[in-house]
Amino acid sequence: MNLRHYLQFNDFALGEYEHLFARTRWIKDRFKRYERYWPLEDRTLAMIFEKQSTRTRLSFEAGMHQLGGAAIFLSTRDSQLGRGEPVEDAAQVISRMCDVVMIRTFEQDTLERFAAHSRVPVINGLTNEYHPCQILADIYTFLEQRGSIRGRTVAWIGDSNNVCNTWLQAAEVFDFNVHVSTPPGYEVEPERAGLYGTDHYEEFRDPMQAAKGADLVTTDVWTSMGMESEDAERKRDFQDWQVDGEMMRVAKPDALFMHCLPAHRGEEISAGVVDGPQSVVWDEAENRLHAQKALLEFLLLGKVEL
Ligand code: CP
Ligand code: NVA
Repeated sequence: MNLRHYLQFNDFALGEYEHLFARTRWIKDRFKRYERYWPLEDRTLAMIFEKQSTRTRLSFEAGMHQLGGAAIFLSTRDSQLGRGEPVEDAAQVISRMCDVVMIRTFEQDTLERFAAHSRVPVINGLTNEYHPCQILADIYTFLEQRGSIRGRTVAWIGDSNNVCNTWLQAAEVFDFNVHVSTPPGYEVEPERAGLYGTDHYEEFRDPMQAAKGADLVTTDVWTSMGMESEDAERKRDFQDWQVDGEMMRVAKPDALFMHCLPAHRGEEISAGVVDGPQSVVWDEAENRLHAQKALLEFLLLGKVEL
């Protein structure tokens, strides 16, 4: 089997996502019926965290256990990575002892360098540039709730960050549109988003215009991890980019609301929306577990047939 990594969303083709979603559904159904499925017995996942996490750690660790395998947590603070061991050396060693590696780090380049020296699949658990596992779960959630995302409109309101970049890549793979509205100075950087000449997104100065007629409205924190020094300035700049009830009313009547979480009620999102009837944030969070189990199965065992 060829070594595959999952470093950014466009590493996989549409047909591979269709396979992953079919497997996600099967794995989720089986899990809900308490039916044991242990295809990864004797396999070990190493998880390296250079930033904090609740959902990513829990979903990968629980997911690996539920597939019959084991997961090991390493952080910068308590491993040699925090004392300057070269990432290339760490990759050589870790990938001789474990079967798959998940990394949450700062620069995408660090992840790429690790993957280039790894003998086993490497998964992006979030970098400054991308968060592919999140959008994998988000699109699966859309599919569960509303069917195919092809031709639909997703409104992204707020910062053009790692989650936004990943939505933009996903739009090319799945052929949907993204309406992006950011404050001036925070616009999408196409090259950083890994986009080359896409016609799948449109930028709007006015967030209400971006949300108009959308099938899905989504946002994320104004200040991502690693940018804490900009927090006060961002709180001022993003004031008018809160997703609230008024904004949801200009979207389609059956529009969904998603947020990768953690949410900051009163900042990027109003409590009324995140806790309201159009919000699917808890399903979205839960689906991280099921979708990543399908991803682990695919990377370690290839295309398991239904
Ligand atoms: N959405 C997400 O990745 O959450 P965590 O930071 O808690 O992992
Ligand atoms: N954009 C956020 C996502 C957190 C899951 C961050 O990078 O901090």
